[in-house]
Amino acid sequence: MFGFWKTWKALEARGIMGINRRNADYVLKYNKRSLYPIVDDKIITKERAIAAGIHVPQMYGIISTEKEIDKLDEIIGGRSDFVIKPAQGAGGDGILVVADRFEGRYRTVSGKIISHEEIEHQISSILTGLYSLGGHRDRALIEYRVVPDQIFKSISYEGVPDIRIIVLMGYPVMAMLRLPTRQSGGKANLHQGAIGVGVDLATGLTLRGTWLNNIITKHPDTTNAVDGVQLPNWDGFMTLAASCYELCGLGYIGVDMVLDQEKGPLILELNARPGLNIQIANDCGLTLRTHAVEARLEELKAAGVTETPQERVKFVQEMFGHIPQVEG
Ligand SMILES: Nc1ncnc2c1ncn2[C@@H]1O[C@H](COP(=O)(O)OP(=O)(O)O)[C@@H](O)[C@H]1O
Ligand SMILES: [Mg+2]
Repeated sequence: MFGFWKTWKALEARGIMGINRRNADYVLKYNKRSLYPIVDDKIITKERAIAAGIHVPQMYGIISTEKEIDKLDEIIGGRSDFVIKPAQGAGGDGILVVADRFEGRYRTVSGKIISHEEIEHQISSILTGLYSLGGHRDRALIEYRVVPDQIFKSISYEGVPDIRIIVLMGYPVMAMLRLPTRQSGGKANLHQGAIGVGVDLATGLTLRGTWLNNIITKHPDTTNAVDGVQLPNWDGFMTLAASCYELCGLGYIGVDMVLDQEKGPLILELNARPGLNIQIANDCGLTLRTHAVEARLEELKAAGVTETPQERVKFVQEMFGHIPQVEG
């Protein structure tokens, strides 16, 4: 714990963003309240993404009322893997990742065997709002289970790693790869016990990791190094994240993406209040970067121009990438 505070203090000198600044100067300033439902409800996010031609895990069905729970069998059909999640959930809570069927029951991605009744009960809890922001009544969505690309096999334990990129007014400012652990039950959420690993914006090479507020370089379950891993199609992920600004209109978001073995990059969800631990994984504060983007926006405004997602990605990669500049 002491090590964590020491790290946080050291980062403070380098422009670390705290929760008050994030809320006042970014979330409140750049995120219009009326647009929140687009990101706070995963069903609406999906519809928006599809309309914009952005790939997402396919939705098999929606259950909105207790009566509709009877439709579950029909929605699942003959499939043996699928995911059930609260439309307005957060932090990985209430998500059920079913990987297989087993003797009339189901096997979750972390190996737990559950009955059909247990799944129905879980859906019922979702509907009552047990996992939703503010405890409001919610809907359950049933979707395609992402099968992670082979690249993650050595550095991930069960479940699906995701790539989180913080995007300010369409400019990606910081990225992190999140790796599920035995502890996180196949989910890539840090507070469930997943690892966060910083990513170089210019190259897509992983940096060091943070786990339960400690700095780490090896995955605790697989013991393989988490740094120095080249993420595939990195510029594609960067451009995808940048284009989520046009998709939702919110100026300060965390974009969560996954790399499916067959379907390639997919958007999992968008967050209007992205967490701040990404700074520890990157050993870098957000403020210097967000200020640089704000200065860029001023400059462009004065010149009366705007940039495309590709141009924005190029700007941040040159500005914040770790690639050493070649002299001469
Ligand atoms: N369709 C899916 N297939 C496989 N794993 C998933 C799927 N959806 C979510 N997960 C796992 O659960 C985690 C949290 O999902 P997410 O949709 O981001 O919800 P939350 O808002 O709770 O973070 C993901 O990072 C991933 O590890
Ligand atoms: Mg998430």
